[in-house]
Amino acid sequence: MSKEKSDVEIKAFVDELMGKMTLEEKAGQITQYFNFLRVPEESRRVEAELAAGRCGSMLFVPNAEDINRLQKIAVEQTRLGIPLLFGYDVIHGLRTAMPVPIAVAASWDPDLAEEGQSVAAAEARAVGLHWSFAPMVDIARDPRWGRIIEGAGEDPYLGAAMAAAQVRGFQGAYVGAPDHVISGPKHFAGYGAAIGGRDYDEANISDNELWNVYLPPFKAAIDAGAYNIMSAYMGLNGVPATGNKWLLSDVLRDTWGFKGFVVTDAGAAYDLCTHGYAADVADAGLRALDAGVDLEMAPPFGESAYRTLPQSVAEGKVSEADIDIAVRRVLEAKVRMGLFDNPYVDVKEAEAVLTRPAHRDTARRAAERSAVLLRNDGDLLPLPRDLASIAVIGPLADSARDTVGPWIFEQDDSETVTVLAGIRAKVGAATRVDYAQGVTLPGRYFKSIFENDEHKQTPRPIVDDTIGIQRAVDLARKSDVVVLVLGEGQVQIGEHASRSSLDLPGRQQELMDAVIGTGKPVVLLLMAARPLDLKGSYTRALMGIWYPGSQGGAAVANLLFGDAVPGGKLPYTWPRNIGQIPLHYAQLKSHKPDWAAERYWNEPNSPLYPFGYGLSYARFSYANLRLSASAIAPGATLTVSVDVTNSGKVGADEVVQLYIHQRHGSSARPVRLLKGFRRIPLAAGETQTVSFPLGPDELSHWSAASRSVVLDATTFDVFVGGDSTADLTASFDVRKG
Ligand code: NOJ
Repeated sequence: MSKEKSDVEIKAFVDELMGKMTLEEKAGQITQYFNFLRVPEESRRVEAELAAGRCGSMLFVPNAEDINRLQKIAVEQTRLGIPLLFGYDVIHGLRTAMPVPIAVAASWDPDLAEEGQSVAAAEARAVGLHWSFAPMVDIARDPRWGRIIEGAGEDPYLGAAMAAAQVRGFQGAYVGAPDHVISGPKHFAGYGAAIGGRDYDEANISDNELWNVYLPPFKAAIDAGAYNIMSAYMGLNGVPATGNKWLLSDVLRDTWGFKGFVVTDAGAAYDLCTHGYAADVADAGLRALDAGVDLEMAPPFGESAYRTLPQSVAEGKVSEADIDIAVRRVLEAKVRMGLFDNPYVDVKEAEAVLTRPAHRDTARRAAERSAVLLRNDGDLLPLPRDLASIAVIGPLADSARDTVGPWIFEQDDSETVTVLAGIRAKVGAATRVDYAQGVTLPGRYFKSIFENDEHKQTPRPIVDDTIGIQRAVDLARKSDVVVLVLGEGQVQIGEHASRSSLDLPGRQQELMDAVIGTGKPVVLLLMAARPLDLKGSYTRALMGIWYPGSQGGAAVANLLFGDAVPGGKLPYTWPRNIGQIPLHYAQLKSHKPDWAAERYWNEPNSPLYPFGYGLSYARFSYANLRLSASAIAPGATLTVSVDVTNSGKVGADEVVQLYIHQRHGSSARPVRLLKGFRRIPLAAGETQTVSFPLGPDELSHWSAASRSVVLDATTFDVFVGGDSTADLTASFDVRKG
């Protein structure tokens, strides 16, 4: 059983090792290469670099056999036998796919996020991985940006809670804890603000937004112990994040006291040339190092910039001592992860961990808790169990690849439960379940990221859309209920998957309208991770199921038939159409607030569904909002309490949300800000009192006027309820002296 190593012990070990290293070996230790195993010539090149001592870390090796084989090269064939640190994008599971991160954020259940990532960590560690490039904690307020799927949505408070929980899940009690891996929050910082939602494009963020919106989830992740940070691709306010000393040194280390190691995003050091920032690759290496990057993730199929560092030392452009700082941090990570004790893993044991039934249970429960019910007219859901026939329609209803979503490469498709399979497994022999794909979804599936071409994909099942829609309509007509599964495919969302439209891709809208036209009761399940524009088409029930993971279909079936009750809430504002973007709830008041609802002349300014919104099969009511004090001194804490009642007929969870508004002060503050939430189970008829503290953490903000964190003496309004439009209010003062 490994235990946490002491700083003294680690320092002594690393000192001795570094004493034996050549400058070239040091540059190698701070270089990380992709190993594309299915591209033999590339793999050979990278493995030759490894054997020559020019590679300290690898990514994209996802299985125990290859990890052991490569470790053997590092340990037995390199001069000093320093083991490799293996990193990977374990974003929402390795073999067992959890729902995608935005889905888990929609559960508003940080404990669930922690549990999900601890399952992911156990599977990763079992195969020999030491580090996950996750969580992505970028705030995303523009749904055109495909990577909205990887984060926790628009809000820094929810984002910080989810960031910290995921770090705890990945890392466990300490860095190097058994069954856990290093967590690397990313992309530092501001990547989610890509202009126009175009992935990798520049971000221009005011200091006010940076400190109050974009940085807090990173700070929370670091406070939770995150041992790695990944620098972002884009330029932040004109300076590339990966060459940004203010970000990577002043903020991260000097202000926040970060003790771990910084890695670049893939090829981001080299990109300093692309940005027109560094003069050449050698300059790029120098500028990244100087900014505070420790380990360079070399570009896929490309050479590292850090390989030029020894030459730069020879030319007097950087000192060996500067390089040593980075080398020490990477070696410390290796020592903490126990690599010098035992670099290998047990292949048989790994397979046992990957197939643990408990992991599937977590995945199913997570999918159940993530779903967001947006409409349920006449209580169409839950469906009765004695239906004679159900029509399951849509190109996403029986697609294992799409069900797990992007950023999963090791899943077992045959293990994945689609919505169709989940429904079939759930209903009795008396219920007929028929399926019609309806239309073809544009785009393909990821075949494998290990192929030579990273984006090479396999085609999807094709149907003739016109015939397919007719078949779907015929099927709907002869069925009691229609379950329609529409949305975006696996490659239409994620990295490098921005969209300039929020419409349903392909002819899905037409399919939906035709099916609605039959007059049959329709449940629309949206498999998507951005707020899509359904053009007002109206189905009686609508539920966001996200990309629910490998047990997704089982979870959805439980939700449809009432064995689970939806309790998720939106982690982003759902606009009426794309023209309203960016639209988030935490807006600032401006001239003529009474006109705010009519800022567009052609339609309301309000969203279709507000942030924090989600229905249940139960009904909740809120009463007796009370504060423990009507005035407090700056630095003091008061308690907000509210009684929440489940007035429905079934036990269900409610996410109780608390928002504040600062009336005046040293800077203008948003109309509402989330500052507390709790997901609580309530039995039918039960009332519970829920309390929240409001103290300096919740009441202070970074003020652009003083360029520091302030707690203004002012009046605060408090709003409590089930979404960001909550109308139960109270207020209190913060008063000096
Ligand atoms: C690029 C992505 O931006 C980053 O999130 C990921 O971790 C690396 N590629 C490695 O796959």
